[in-house]
Amino acid sequence: MRLEVDNLGVSLRSDQMLGRARTVHAVKRVSFSIDTGEAVGLVGESGSGKSTIARVIMGVVPASTGEIRFRQEGHGPGQPKTSRAKLAQMIFQDAAASLNPRLKVSSALNQVIALHHPKLSAREREAMGLRLLRRVALDENISDRFPRELSGGQAQRVAIARALIPEPSLLVCDEPVSALDVSVQAGILRLLDDLRRNSGTALLMISHDLAAVRALCDRIIVLKEGEIVEAGPAGSICSSPTHAYTKALVDAVAQL
Ligand SMILES: Nc1ncnc2c1ncn2[C@@H]1O[C@H](COP(=O)(O)OP(=O)(O)OP(=O)(O)O)[C@@H](O)[C@H]1O
Ligand SMILES: [Mg+2]
Repeated sequence: MRLEVDNLGVSLRSDQMLGRARTVHAVKRVSFSIDTGEAVGLVGESGSGKSTIARVIMGVVPASTGEIRFRQEGHGPGQPKTSRAKLAQMIFQDAAASLNPRLKVSSALNQVIALHHPKLSAREREAMGLRLLRRVALDENISDRFPRELSGGQAQRVAIARALIPEPSLLVCDEPVSALDVSVQAGILRLLDDLRRNSGTALLMISHDLAAVRALCDRIIVLKEGEIVEAGPAGSICSSPTHAYTKALVDAVAQL
């Protein structure tokens, strides 16, 4: 499944406490595509519109201009006849907050499995939940825990397991490791890379961290104030950045 973002513009109205509402042009004339199983990085400073693009792809914020299309390769134009959940799933920075605090991991997974695989029996749902935990390299006994009993890295792995249930073509990861200890970050990034390589799930990796994006992505898109200022193969963006902001990002990595 190919994602096409075509001339996307997003205007948001911010209701200010005092005074009039203001319109923010959060995204302007943004076009890019992600092929089946491809990993694309979206970097840019805070407020540059990264999360807004993610929300439009997920269908929770409407495009003001332009459009988002998912297209089955080898098929003509038109949205494929499949549920939105199977097109794209999102991974958030705050994994613990994305899990219901009152549900054990087993129940959280089971609920979503029942929704997307209604023909499975209770026993089959349970088996699928355990299989997913193994897929994200968690011990099966995690299924008996509440979110508050998980480490940040474990919670993110559970969130990834849950996102895999509808077998999405694309995982949109918005700063998936920014809240985690450095020692845990690499493991989560390896897991996402492994899912792409072995399950063919395309990735949109949103991050301020050029090093993380370079490690995972084929191509990188650099956003500034809602516009694409640079885009290309990860290697050439990192070795010869042309835009001042990209150079600053590369320098920040070099100094580590
Ligand atoms: N719900 C909203 N209402 C009004 N303006 C918004 C809303 N959400 C975001 N914005 C504005 O849109 C612009 C883009 O925000 P966005 O959250 O997409 O940036 P970002 O690149 O994800 O930043 P960060 O790296 O800090 O997460 C910003 O100017 C922001 O203030
Ligand atoms: Mg953001």
